[in-house]
Amino acid sequence: MTATAERRTGRSVLITGGNRGIGLAIAKSFLANGDKVAVTYRSETDLPEGVLGVKADVTDQSSIEEAFKTVEAAHGPVEVLVPNAGITKDTLLMRMSEDDFTSVLDANLTGAFRVIQRATKGMMKLRKGRIVMISSPSGVRGVPGQVNYSASKAGMIGIARSITRELGGRGITANVVMPGVVLTDIFNHVSEDIKTKYLGEIPAARFAEPSEIANVVRWLASDEAAYISGAVIPVDGGASMGH
Ligand SMILES: NC(=O)c1ccc[n+]([C@@H]2O[C@H](COP(=O)([O-])OP(=O)(O)OC[C@H]3O[C@@H](n4cnc5c(N)ncnc54)[C@H](OP(=O)(O)O)[C@@H]3O)[C@@H](O)[C@H]2O)c1
Repeated sequence: MTATAERRTGRSVLITGGNRGIGLAIAKSFLANGDKVAVTYRSETDLPEGVLGVKADVTDQSSIEEAFKTVEAAHGPVEVLVPNAGITKDTLLMRMSEDDFTSVLDANLTGAFRVIQRATKGMMKLRKGRIVMISSPSGVRGVPGQVNYSASKAGMIGIARSITRELGGRGITANVVMPGVVLTDIFNHVSEDIKTKYLGEIPAARFAEPSEIANVVRWLASDEAAYISGAVIPVDGGASMGH
């Protein structure tokens, strides 16, 4: 496939947590590419026209199974999967309960594992597939108060690289995108002081737009990126350089 080849469109794309924030921007980017786009949501369903919403909680295997069945019936087997759903429960290590730790791991990392395992069944039959996980620079830099979140986001790198070795020969790629700070709802509980501190650490001297993350995800799922797998791509204005 050369760079001059026609862009492939009309693929079945599924984004977890695609009803708002970065996930919604990713959904819009694939929609604009002409793909068939589905997103999971838990409660909020105000989606753009053309996006199929499927109710699912990534901590609940049966809801994932139902969501995949609905997507497959409407759009065909999932060819592009973006495990994006994520939560934070920030607190310092000394105050972090085991539940604070395991609940974040369950949603962010085991949640990604659950949907990836389900999607790869179809991808193996298709002998093609793209998995783009939404991690965070926190997973490689570490952030005070984020032992749980950092562990979940670092784990995604291991998943992507092991999948690359297991399934790379079957036309399936697995990559990790690390978005810099995007002022979505996930930042609602973060103080202005901390936001100012984060801003000071970004060489680009600004926060990211959701579309700047989304467009990199869409490109990693394109034929132009067919030979990229197991890669960790920071989209963070240079904030995590050297990690
Ligand atoms: N914003 C940033 O600066 C930033 C930076 C680096 C990485 N990230 C990562 O980017 C991803 C998206 O974050 P965001 O900023 O867009 O956050 P957000 O606006 O808070 O959106 C989080 C999304 O995840 C979904 N979600 C959470 N837990 C879920 C569960 N158990 N099952 C299904 N869906 C679940 C939410 O669904 P509901 O609407 O149902 O709650 C929502 O759609 C996350 O993985 C986050 O860690 C964000």
